Amino acid sequence: MNFIKVENYDILSEKAAEIIANVIKAKPDCVLGLATGSSPVGTYKKLIEMNKKGELDFSKATSINLDEYEGLDGEHDQSYRYFMNDNLFNHVNIDKSKTFVPNGKATDIPAECKAYDDRIYEMGIDIQLLGIGLDGHIGFNEPDKYFTKETHRVVLDESTIVANARFFESIDDVPKTAITMGMGGIMSAKKVLLVANGANKKEIVEKAFFGPITPEVPASILQLHNDVTVIYSEN
Ligand code: GLP
Repeated sequence: MNFIKVENYDILSEKAAEIIANVIKAKPDCVLGLATGSSPVGTYKKLIEMNKKGELDFSKATSINLDEYEGLDGEHDQSYRYFMNDNLFNHVNIDKSKTFVPNGKATDIPAECKAYDDRIYEMGIDIQLLGIGLDGHIGFNEPDKYFTKETHRVVLDESTIVANARFFESIDDVPKTAITMGMGGIMSAKKVLLVANGANKKEIVEKAFFGPITPEVPASILQLHNDVTVIYSEN
């Protein structure tokens, strides 16, 4: 594992964007595994800057996102589809028909999950970008007794609902369930890049990457991946 501690969020974002940009430059038709949350926002800003300067071309790239709240459609401003459009896709020359986010409004959730996994394994993810939740979740893989391999429906932990309430008008508006890529999909990525910032993430980052590998700390499974970069900034 390559653990990089940096001075501030701007440097974190710069480094993360550089790693992703190098993947796109080396393989223009790459598959990007993308993430939501506040942590990758700076990375997306840097990627947009590179695209606007003509240094980075997304036209042949495909993307597949980690997760989506159940019950929210892509028009909802707190859906992860909306987030991705707003924070990246609307500002770069990616073909939106090649950007995938789980369908939070799917009526047949098991079928949606199966189709999502089929797509992941058929396309193959070149680089998976991740954030980390305060309880160690990646995507929406919450602490549990076991790691779940497949894309699946998840009941969100109370702590995740509380943490994500800041984006909603009230905590009651935060969906209680979501669809998330499973650990199999995440671990199948050729490269994994996790970004974390803030003093409040210090403890969980230490546990996840320097503690025991356990489904109680979902991100700890990444210690078993052979190409993981973690970029952490306390500020
Ligand atoms: C959400 C997302 C995760 C993200 C986490 C942390 O729960 N499903 O993918 O990593 O939030 O978010 P933040 O980066 O805002 O702390």
